[in-house]
Amino acid sequence: MLDFKKAISELLAKELPELYLDEIKGMIEVPQDTKMGDYAFPCFRLAKELKKAPQIIAAELAEKIKDADIFENVEQVNAYVNMFVSKDKLSGDTLSEVIERGDDYGSSELGEGKTVIVEFSSPNIAKPFHIGHIRSTVIGNSIYKIYKALGYKMVRINHLGDYGTQFGKMICAYRHWGNKEDVEREPIKTLLEYYTKFHEEVENDPSLDDEAREIFAKLERGEPEEVELWQWFRDESLKEFSRVYNMLGIEYDSYAGESFYSDKMPRHEKELEESGIMVDSQGAKIVDLEDQGLGVALIKKSDGSSIYITRDIAAAIYRKETYDFYKNIYVVAAQQSLHFQQLFAILRLMGYDECADGCVHVPFGLVRLEEGTMSTRHGRVVFLEDVLNRAVEKTREIIAEKNPGSDNIDEIAKQVGIGAVVFNELSNNRIKDYVFKWETVLNFDGETGPYVQYTHARCCSLLKRAGDEVAAKAEELAKSGGLKLDYLTGDAAHELIKLIYNYPDVIVQAADRYEPSLVTRHVIDIAQEFNRFYHDEHIITDNDDEKVAKIALVLATKNVLKNGLGLLGVNAPERM
Ligand code: ARG
Repeated sequence: MLDFKKAISELLAKELPELYLDEIKGMIEVPQDTKMGDYAFPCFRLAKELKKAPQIIAAELAEKIKDADIFENVEQVNAYVNMFVSKDKLSGDTLSEVIERGDDYGSSELGEGKTVIVEFSSPNIAKPFHIGHIRSTVIGNSIYKIYKALGYKMVRINHLGDYGTQFGKMICAYRHWGNKEDVEREPIKTLLEYYTKFHEEVENDPSLDDEAREIFAKLERGEPEEVELWQWFRDESLKEFSRVYNMLGIEYDSYAGESFYSDKMPRHEKELEESGIMVDSQGAKIVDLEDQGLGVALIKKSDGSSIYITRDIAAAIYRKETYDFYKNIYVVAAQQSLHFQQLFAILRLMGYDECADGCVHVPFGLVRLEEGTMSTRHGRVVFLEDVLNRAVEKTREIIAEKNPGSDNIDEIAKQVGIGAVVFNELSNNRIKDYVFKWETVLNFDGETGPYVQYTHARCCSLLKRAGDEVAAKAEELAKSGGLKLDYLTGDAAHELIKLIYNYPDVIVQAADRYEPSLVTRHVIDIAQEFNRFYHDEHIITDNDDEKVAKIALVLATKNVLKNGLGLLGVNAPERM
């Protein structure tokens, strides 16, 4: 596909020998207001060097490049060169590329030969898998898909919270008050109850604390009875998590959680100890990071038990040694920012600079419910599975009402309901806190998943209405460059084609910024522009050339919407 930015920079470079090609490319802008062109080149910066007024530079440049065949028109407006690309070139190239590449449109080999780890979701065993966890799960999955589309070799890791002193408490509670059937029936809720019960009972009987600590020590030493119970808790919880992952279509390459690193920590504790980085403090072991403004990191408690960050040190080094990652991305709430800053700083102090260089914390804000913040202690927990089920239920009602006769309603309700929750999650800039509201999530007309899915289904139905023969012809002519592109020069069509053309670039930006919401925004824009095209123009006309050209654009739109939704982890049903 013609790279307009590159072609423009090459034209400008000939006229501006004092600048590097990349510099020029970096200066090219895409104006918000389409009246100012498809691309614009500001000349302010050049004034000093060329000793001329920027308006004059712009006018001279415009004059020199305006006859190139990639342009329809070039204008100077104040200090800008505003460039309007040839509509035929843009639409011909774009349609042939999208239709040729189909499901692959937007993907590339940018990341070839590099391995990227995305760690996401990472819930804690026996703690609720609630609406708050949806963020890491869904953002992480999308980042995985975005990087994968760019050709990186991907490893998805679920760093399960399956270790720590709380397991001593849980086993202790289970032995006192638990029973097997309850755990098997509803593992996470039951284990959570044990944990809560433990905290209630310990108020009256502090000796329970010692008992729990003793149990955890045995677990760390690998005593069979404790290990067996722990393993069982983990297995049962994982079954429940997997149910949710299945609903979301999410898979992992590794479930190496915190426990996986228990035998890998001593090596690093020794390194920390011998290098003098870790010091004693009131019986515990710490790393002092005050001089970097990062406080003090506790590495080992006074009773000798390891903690969260120690397991993360071992995990990062293990991942570097095992996968030789280019990036190791942690999709974890912003509340843990200090934790990750400390972790990366400690890795550097230990001399694992290359490992630390590849580590990235991708933080995100909180989800609140309309009823108030979630609180495990007050029973105000919304389980993720319940949210997904409810979304499917509500969607089924909406579809039944809008479209009483539709068959296959169960499958569609699932794809749309779950898609709606996922899309909503990825609509906001990830760092922003937001409030979860059903009306927003399931609105079929707003800037939502169902709206984009609906637009995709509309494309499918137009293709059907046009008939196989027309669709096949559109495909063939798009590939061979034989479409009558004059029929695609209307405002909406041109803007739509520009958005489709820019889609591969958006994927790269989304990867650079770890921001799936850029893709979400772009598919919304495409859907809106397509609907404008649909309302402004008659698509299935009697004029065959016109019909074929327009159907080619419908086909291209359908492909891009499907691919874009795919990067978000959202399905694109053909009918709704
Ligand atoms: N289990 C943790 C939690 O739910 C998240 C783990 C984040 N990942 C990490 N490598 N520390 O808060």
